[in-house]
Amino acid sequence: MPDLIDRFGRKHTYLRISVTDKCNLRCLYCMPEEGMKFMEQERLLSYSQILEVASAAARLGVRRFRITGGEPLVRPGLEELVAGLADLPGVEDISLTTNGLLLAQQAHRLKQAGLRRVNVSLDTMDPIRFKFIARRGELQRVWEGIEAASEAGLLPIKLNCVLLKGVNESEIGRFLKLATERPVHVRFIEYMPIGHDDAGWREHYLPLSRVLEEASQLGYALEKIDGPEGSGPSENWRIEGGAGTFGLIHPVSSHFCSNCNRLRLTADGHIKPCLYWMDELNVKPALGFSEEMEQILRKAMELKPENHEMAALLAGDPLRHVPTERRMSQIGG
Ligand code: GTP
Ligand code: 5AD
Ligand code: SF4
Repeated sequence: MPDLIDRFGRKHTYLRISVTDKCNLRCLYCMPEEGMKFMEQERLLSYSQILEVASAAARLGVRRFRITGGEPLVRPGLEELVAGLADLPGVEDISLTTNGLLLAQQAHRLKQAGLRRVNVSLDTMDPIRFKFIARRGELQRVWEGIEAASEAGLLPIKLNCVLLKGVNESEIGRFLKLATERPVHVRFIEYMPIGHDDAGWREHYLPLSRVLEEASQLGYALEKIDGPEGSGPSENWRIEGGAGTFGLIHPVSSHFCSNCNRLRLTADGHIKPCLYWMDELNVKPALGFSEEMEQILRKAMELKPENHEMAALLAGDPLRHVPTERRMSQIGG
């Protein structure tokens, strides 16, 4: 069975599946406040169509699946997809990235269907700042979601914190402290310009070297670690004596593309070889034809570029390809 290996020798074993571009929040780094034109219902792949793509991917060596959005929990009946993924041969990991608002109601059901773990967005621990960043929803519901996921055994829980200069950078110490006090994995993430290169990104982008500076100022002794499970792009640390750990995802200041093992499927049925670039392949013509579906996944290996060029964008240097026009919520991170 041929593996999915691209022109740069990278083996692809991980598929991120976006099930909707809709969301119940409007995070300022992701979606305009007024929302956007969402995909029409008839353009979305059904769960059985998604499973056709996932099944072809599994035949070609994909072992890990992550469900994303928009916000995946706004799409009804997600446990049907989870159960279908869990039945695929060779599957090792099924995980979900969520903003947590609807997690408390669904955590137990999803666990029973075969979900193993969750990554939950948590950009602030201040309810007022939450309103400023997410523009909707309640921070308290996110905490309830995290608690319910923990009780349901959806572990390890990773908490995603996109750092924004002048917005939540004052909370770095607080998040580090959380990683010493609770058995969670806090992930600081650099703000990426996906689907936009706007003044907001330039104004709020913050390199993650700030986190290590802050840890040192706080007198924390750090030990570099491998885990936790599945942490593809994250560089991870343990604070001596701490109950949890933290990670840094720094695509802009120092990219990790040489280790990339990921493909993406958008909710409207396109394979994206890279988060950043425009290239994508429509899977719809291959639905119902297993060999053609495998061909599309192999074709993605030919199209995949060596790396993204967010740093060049920041520096104002010319780019070698055309960046995607999809917003983050239309790809799923
Ligand atoms: P696991 O390692 O399986 O836990 O997942 P993850 O950390 O990749 O998933 P998650 O959805 O929590 O994403 C965390 C952050 O990493 C988000 O900001 C994603 O956009 C970003 N990210 C994930 N994969 C890639 C990638 O291949 N390239 C880049 N540049 N960013 C990525
Ligand atoms: N840059 C970095 N991370 C982002 N996310 C959404 N938009 C961006 C961006 N522009 C994160 C979310 C979520 C994950 C899917 O991606 O916070 O945790
Ligand atoms: Fe919704 Fe996630 Fe985008 Fe926030 S980052 S608007 S929670 S899809």
